[in-house]
Amino acid sequence: SSELTTAEADWKKVNYYNVYKDIADLLEDEDYDDGSYGPVFVRLAWHASGTYSKKDRTGGSTGGTIRFHPEANYGANAGLHVARERLEPLKKKYPHISYADLYTLAGVVAIQELGGPVVPWRPGRPDAITAAAVAATPDGRLPDAAQGADHVRDIFYRMGFNDQEIVALEGAHALGRCHTDRSGFDGPWNASPTAFTNFLFTELLDNTWVPKKWDGPFQYVDKATGQFMMLPADIAFKTDPKFRQYVEQYAKDQDLFFADFSKAFVKLLELGVQFPEDAPVYQFKPLE
Ligand code: HEM
Repeated sequence: SSELTTAEADWKKVNYYNVYKDIADLLEDEDYDDGSYGPVFVRLAWHASGTYSKKDRTGGSTGGTIRFHPEANYGANAGLHVARERLEPLKKKYPHISYADLYTLAGVVAIQELGGPVVPWRPGRPDAITAAAVAATPDGRLPDAAQGADHVRDIFYRMGFNDQEIVALEGAHALGRCHTDRSGFDGPWNASPTAFTNFLFTELLDNTWVPKKWDGPFQYVDKATGQFMMLPADIAFKTDPKFRQYVEQYAKDQDLFFADFSKAFVKLLELGVQFPEDAPVYQFKPLE
């Protein structure tokens, strides 16, 4: 609808190959975390999109609403200003791109440039110009890491995903880490948090996961080294038999995981979006 359209955003006036390259140039920074903004870009794209509800068709990446209060300040989104601020110069450089397109494209670039599958992406998400122009989705639409399989299903079924797609998406936890000053949890899931791999699944199955002894929120660490972590919600993928069958498949077959992840991530980034009919689908080539 018209109140969702900015004066500036005009998806036809943007060269997305150039934006892709410029986002890729923003990924590396040896002083940030494990050396890459890629993981936090993926989390931004996911949290921008994962508010969708198929029941009332509200939420999703449309509007770029994650940059506004109150959504920006929901507990689940703690720390994502880091990603938005890193991307802001590109909004200045390419004023015609919508924030909604920029944030979702950043997730695609990060997945691809960190060695993951090609993720087809379409432009044309309109932006909300002001927070007041769009009704914010209520808090609590993103998953709570302290809970288990029932909660995870409630959240992802609401978006319209099935068990196989949920497991595929969870594989993104091969990337990045938890931060005590964001979620309260601590540590990376594996030894190569800046590479997109099927390691979430291999680590889940190959290690014994024990409660971390600390004052922070309840989480798991690997028994052998204590260096790697799992959230209670991650452990549910090992203990729930229906989730686990896909965990086992993806642990054995990285190509299958890559193909299924790509499809599910495209679906996630397009939830609730009404694209212009003439918006093309881009399949960007990883740069190297
Ligand atoms: C990080 C929870 C699903 C991508 C995190 C963090 C939590 C979390 C607590 C740590 C945030 C921080 O402290 O910085 C969950 C739960 C999920 C889920 C409970 C579902 C059961 C997903 C999905 C994706 C994803 C579907 C993407 C497809 C990421 C990435 C990071 C992350 C890439 C690392 C961010 C960074 O390194 O800054 N997640 N998540 N997560 N999540 Fe998830």
